[in-house]
Amino acid sequence: MLAVTLVKIMSNNPEHPHRKTLADLRSRRWFADTGMRGFAHRQRMQQMGLRRDDLMSRPVIAIINTWSDLSPCHAHLRERAESVKRGVLLAGGLPLELPAMSLGEVMVKPTTMLYRNFLAMEVEELLRSHPIDGAVLLGGCDKTTPGTVMGAISMGVPAIFCPAGPMLNDRQVQGGITRQIGAGTHTRMFWDELQAGRIGADDWVALEAKMTRSPGTCNTMGTASTMTALVEALGLALPGSSSIPAMDAAHPRMATDCGERIVAMVWDDLTPQRLLTRAAFLNAAAVQMALGGSTNAAVHLIAMARRAGVDLVLDDLDAMARRVPVLANLFPSGDRLMEDFFYAGGLPALMSRISAMLSLDELTVTGQTLGQNIAAAVVHDAEVIRPLDRPVSASGALAVLRGNLAPDGAVMKASAAAPRFFRHQGRALVFDSPAEMNAACADPALDVDEDTVLVLRNAGPVGAPGMPEWGNLPIPKKLLALGVRDMLRLSDARMSGTHYGSCVLHICPEAAVGGPLALVQNGDLISLDLGARTLTLAVDDTELARRRTAWQPPPRPVTRGYTRLYQEHVTQAHEGCDFDFLQGSATSPEPVIF
Ligand code: FES
Repeated sequence: MLAVTLVKIMSNNPEHPHRKTLADLRSRRWFADTGMRGFAHRQRMQQMGLRRDDLMSRPVIAIINTWSDLSPCHAHLRERAESVKRGVLLAGGLPLELPAMSLGEVMVKPTTMLYRNFLAMEVEELLRSHPIDGAVLLGGCDKTTPGTVMGAISMGVPAIFCPAGPMLNDRQVQGGITRQIGAGTHTRMFWDELQAGRIGADDWVALEAKMTRSPGTCNTMGTASTMTALVEALGLALPGSSSIPAMDAAHPRMATDCGERIVAMVWDDLTPQRLLTRAAFLNAAAVQMALGGSTNAAVHLIAMARRAGVDLVLDDLDAMARRVPVLANLFPSGDRLMEDFFYAGGLPALMSRISAMLSLDELTVTGQTLGQNIAAAVVHDAEVIRPLDRPVSASGALAVLRGNLAPDGAVMKASAAAPRFFRHQGRALVFDSPAEMNAACADPALDVDEDTVLVLRNAGPVGAPGMPEWGNLPIPKKLLALGVRDMLRLSDARMSGTHYGSCVLHICPEAAVGGPLALVQNGDLISLDLGARTLTLAVDDTELARRRTAWQPPPRPVTRGYTRLYQEHVTQAHEGCDFDFLQGSATSPEPVIF
């Protein structure tokens, strides 16, 4: 039985105050034009076998599809596009599929984050340049969620997000013990076991066929599951939709619901701007904390908020983390997977646990409020969705640190870190590149102990470029052999949401633009105090000023194309890493049709 209750799709209401008529449809500018251009628009659509009357009498719905053969998490999205089309047709719309950059997280190099803004620009311009009245956004693998949503926000037509859904759970039997294993989280764990000689090369090869059991997004509470849940909490996806496993029969039904619903949203002019209030973003932040969600959400949520003209800053997230404990017992903070979360009631059930901390009056894509959407939600398994008095972690999912090493902030996933590092001081061991870091960490003679603070720099938005997920720095092989599995690690990079460890990330400003991280030297003392939210470099200002005078920015080997555009215009992590010229709620004019 479907554990998540989808709210009944509301029918069109002719009395709706924002009700549109046929004459108001944006697509009519193309198809109802009586001149030569209108003739050409209709003629070319009829060239594909479409009927003339359908072009002029129905809302045209774009299905933005991030499917590709190099995006395994989205392998099922071509089929899901057909389900969406069915829903659009049943509701009286005309569905048209538009492919967009797929951004398969594991395949795209140097990092999908470099292309999140590319996807956002592509979605915005796809919607603007074509005769589109509303959009269904098919995505889920990490950056595809914020990328498609950012583009849709900036364009401003009604849009609904259709999440790809998590892949199925996997299990491993070892030594007579069965345990669940999940994508991402266990890859790093088994790699460390291999480096420490606790598993063999044959075991490692055999593991390649494990953990990723079906199409769908990573089944841990990584960035994909975090972002799809946050978009649902924002009110941009149907209730419960982000928790449905990709291969469950409920998933294509949900996709059909999305298609049906978007047509009604067009008639009701239910645009993202009408849904995305500051309160809606704070709801999403609360959900991030209750989920023990990915630190990447700190970047994406701020970027989406800025697109909507909402003032959301890191301190809002820190304040929410202090209020809302981690309740979802999901890897990497807990020990269950997304399929378990679905059976336990999914996101509506989790939100019902924290309803006192949510603004329940926020409008959503259903046309109803968040409170109405979750009113009937029930928790079916209190081990997976814990009660408030028995959280997975009371110390909060995310902490924002500041100090002379991170004047504009840094983030740490406290719920996935070892408590012994909550208050820690150690000597810095600094790496300027991942190549230098990997070579050093493989060296059995490396001068390092378990209290050393590993530092990686030049890995931020400008420096890398694209702020890759290099922030889960490897434990030096020498220490792995001694049983060390966690150390305090610092960087201006991000970390995969599926990973765990005591990693301070997103240090702002980044080293490549002259942030204090650029001035750290081997042997400097670094202190972290999670309770006080401080990150301090014990070097006096005079010495730091001397080092700054000698500092040179790292070279930028790419001098052309998109990467150059990115490095010249990307903002820092605490500002969302959007392009400076795309932030804000200003809209572009409609294209001239001539
Ligand atoms: Fe696609 Fe993790 S690799 S969601």
